[in-house]
Amino acid sequence: MVRRRRHRTFAGAHRDVQAAGDARVEGSGMTGRTSNPVERTADGQSPHAFVQEIAGHILLARALGVVAELGIADLVAAGPRTLAELADAAGAHPESLYRLLRMLGGHGVFAELPDGRIGSTPRADVLRRDHPDSLHDLLSMTWQNLHWDTFRALPDAIRTGGIAFEQAFGQGFFDYLAAHPEMNAAFDLRMAQVSRAENPPIAAAYPFGAFRRVVDLGGGRGGLLVAVLQRYPGIEATLYDQPQVVAEPTDLARAGLLERVACVSGDFFAAVPAGFDLYFMKRIIHDWDDERAVRILRNCAQAMLPGSRVAVADAVMVPGNDPDPNKTLDLSIMALTPGKERTAAGFTALFAAAGLRLTRIIPTAAPSTVSIIEGVVADDA
Ligand SMILES: C[S@@+](CC[C@H](N)C(=O)[O-])C[C@H]1O[C@@H](n2cnc3c(N)ncnc32)[C@H](O)[C@@H]1O
Repeated sequence: MVRRRRHRTFAGAHRDVQAAGDARVEGSGMTGRTSNPVERTADGQSPHAFVQEIAGHILLARALGVVAELGIADLVAAGPRTLAELADAAGAHPESLYRLLRMLGGHGVFAELPDGRIGSTPRADVLRRDHPDSLHDLLSMTWQNLHWDTFRALPDAIRTGGIAFEQAFGQGFFDYLAAHPEMNAAFDLRMAQVSRAENPPIAAAYPFGAFRRVVDLGGGRGGLLVAVLQRYPGIEATLYDQPQVVAEPTDLARAGLLERVACVSGDFFAAVPAGFDLYFMKRIIHDWDDERAVRILRNCAQAMLPGSRVAVADAVMVPGNDPDPNKTLDLSIMALTPGKERTAAGFTALFAAAGLRLTRIIPTAAPSTVSIIEGVVADDA
């Protein structure tokens, strides 16, 4: 069932289309570009096939969510199972389940064996609940449904400049999470799972070991501090987040580091704890518009000691048509929150407005292409 095709980049496709369009304009005397459904771009895929494939991805994401919810990856973890066994164990209709798995098999998620049994594949393995790099919580129906309800409001949000989530749910994203504990838990788990892949490369990329007292602002369940402490056990680490979040520092607990980390609750718009050598925050600034992002950074500037650093782990967007997964993240952030991904120039201006001076941008090897944007208090020598 597995079919593999070389993935192409948006920039590559854009250049191909531009070249094809320019040639047509020159060769035919036409005044604009047209799209010929059977024309092939450089990778052999027609524009029609490309757009149809993308349109079908909406179902692909849903199908991944459904198999995750049914726990099919867990059921085949120990070895291939017959469809009847799977349907029985998952409480599913056998033929419908088969058609779902056949579709996913075409994308390398599960495989039908010659004897008809269903087996796992590396892409199915990461859907298991007990996989070390599990993405099961990322696909939870609770979370996917929230996204779907949000994205339904996207056309209106694009027209008006409003926030799709607020149009769909009637309140801000983080206010909604605070008022809905089960959604807050689903978000924290999802965030922790996504972060698990980026925490070790971030801990490796930034010299945390040069600081004694480190606070992770909006640190969620503590996953980043786990990665940092595993590398630099001597650091005094503090996890700072909203009360309902620091109440469940599950990543710290899982790593046996609860005793090593102080958990402090608060509101980073009001104040952040004073006197730390490093104010770290990952995936925080991108959640907020410039005014609120500046408020958080200014609170850091006011709490910092001479020589303290602030370090923001976020995407740094590449300009133009170059491919960048952060451009998709930016659209998701736009739909959910008042925030945005920023360019290097955007961060420089943001830091300056908060009384900080951007000192350097350090790339990381994280798969999500997150960078670390570091600053000092502007008048700190
Ligand atoms: C996108 S998550 C990032 C979590 C974590 N840093 C990571 O990268 O996995 C944003 C975090 O900010 C926290 N947060 C939101 N509003 C906050 C506030 N006013 N004060 C403190 N933390 C807040 C949330 O609870 C959440 O843990």
